[in-house]
Amino acid sequence: MPYTKKLEVLIIGSGGAGLTLALKLAEQHISVAVLSKFALISSSTYYAQGGISAVFDAEDSIESHIEDTLDAGAGLCKPDIVRLTVTQGKNSIEWLRTQGVVFTEEENASGQTQLHLNREGGHSHRRVVHSDDATGKAVSLSLIERAQQHPNIELLDHHNVVELITLPTNDANGKKIIGAYVLDTQENKVKTLAAKIVVLATGGANMAYMYSTNPHSSTGDGIALAWRAGCRVSNMEFMQFHPTCLYHPEARSFLISEALRGEGGKLVLKDGSSFMEKFDSRGELAPRDIVARAIDHEMKKRGIDCVYLDISHKPATFIREHFPTIYQQCLDYGIDITKQPIPVVPAAHYTCGGVMTDDYARTDITNLYAVGEVACTGLHGANRMASNSLLECLVFADRACADILQKLPTIISLPKIPDWDESKVTDSDEEVVVAHNWNELRHFMWDYVGIVRTDKRLNRALSRVELLKKEITEYYSHFRITSDLLELRNLVIVAELIIRCAQQRKESRGLHYTLDYPETDQSVPPLDTILIP
Ligand code: FAD
Ligand code: SIN
Repeated sequence: MPYTKKLEVLIIGSGGAGLTLALKLAEQHISVAVLSKFALISSSTYYAQGGISAVFDAEDSIESHIEDTLDAGAGLCKPDIVRLTVTQGKNSIEWLRTQGVVFTEEENASGQTQLHLNREGGHSHRRVVHSDDATGKAVSLSLIERAQQHPNIELLDHHNVVELITLPTNDANGKKIIGAYVLDTQENKVKTLAAKIVVLATGGANMAYMYSTNPHSSTGDGIALAWRAGCRVSNMEFMQFHPTCLYHPEARSFLISEALRGEGGKLVLKDGSSFMEKFDSRGELAPRDIVARAIDHEMKKRGIDCVYLDISHKPATFIREHFPTIYQQCLDYGIDITKQPIPVVPAAHYTCGGVMTDDYARTDITNLYAVGEVACTGLHGANRMASNSLLECLVFADRACADILQKLPTIISLPKIPDWDESKVTDSDEEVVVAHNWNELRHFMWDYVGIVRTDKRLNRALSRVELLKKEITEYYSHFRITSDLLELRNLVIVAELIIRCAQQRKESRGLHYTLDYPETDQSVPPLDTILIP
């Protein structure tokens, strides 16, 4: 049976960005549907540890937060976007508190209760508001609970978007969004969701790499959907590798928060000797690109599998109190972090590039917005500073909300949309191909498009991606879709976008480091890498 639903606003993604926008619109009496391709908590937001950056310390200032963000971004941040975001730090935290999020507090010298602030790489002050070492879980659970209670919000989990639906227009954009085809993975049928406004809040593309700190949901779907629909994508070469992911055969994606280094954690080799001082005067608290590259350098030079993060010199009670999740998780793997160093390796963590958006989260397609990690707003430039991402989700959800409230009354009706056509496909007889292609893609992205790149490695990766793309397109046109196939089809597109952006940048800057052009080009003003579909 065909299934069509008509919606005011369709938000794709139930992470921090999607749920913030949903709650803000719902408060303004707009009805909203929120999709999540797996369970509602399956998002990077849920796993965030360190916290959310915002200026609260009396010694700190907005100017200092701006300066640190620009410095980490290596010349590519958009200063107006940085200012706009950073000035909303305090308001964003206050809004989360109204939604029931509880942040860690401490008593100050005069006995008053205040927010406890973490310190992380690139920040010149303590500036990171947090809920112990599981900030994302606190944010995610509170927002989900609020959304579940709100009569204007419909939550549709296990709904995976297949394709955006657009119509040609006479405006400057040339296209407008009118909905999306969505695979209900529990009922196994493709639904047609017509919507006046569609928002991509689908998160990053970090599952393009063999080792990642991200949950399975980060397959770059929103970037691939927008690209296929006709949106420009930019700065995809700036994939961020977090320096410290737990190295353990059974724990591939457990992050060891930068906040450990903020509290004095040292990066050391097996013999206990430190090495960060050789690479940057800020040592362990240098921006992430520098720390990840330093670790990669030491691992390759010495032929070792990991380095170590040691915080065992701090009192055991302090460690257990400040990092209860990390302490317990490591203990479950047989590592007592109060007594021994933690084996760590870098892993793909954050997508700085994405769908190009303006200061109200608008994309190139009329009525299509992108908010959160899926978007490239200009905040992060060539390297995101720690804990600026959740802040960006909150600030741009708020700005998208303001614009949507203006826009919605001008959209009167929705055209009829044809049902999804499955008449020419059959069930696959060789689903193993999908799993094999996934592994192959993530392997060569890790080997050839990782922390250190060369022209030769990028060319090699591009020829692999082109072959895979052909194979996947053919498979997609013959067989009935599954969630895994949809993700693979998106992942191969984002892999290609990462490689093509990396090939265009003939210099090293921020997170993009290539042995063929090791210097930063000072001769021209730094430019974004923009890909046009
Ligand atoms: P996500 O939270 O990833 O949510 C994406 C949503 O989209 C999910 O619900 C997913 O199911 C849905 N989705 C995706 N594709 C589809 C599809 N095709 N159909 C339907 N739904 C879809 N940042 C900080 O600022 N501070 C931190 O302390 C911090 N710690 C981190 C720790 C870890 C381990 C990780 C992985 C990231 C961390 N980050 C941190 C980064 C930050 O968490 C993310 O950038 C941010 O949460 C992204 O939020 P989002 O709403 O854009 O996307
Ligand atoms: C961390 O806690 O180290 C992650 C912070 C971030 O990615 O912003």
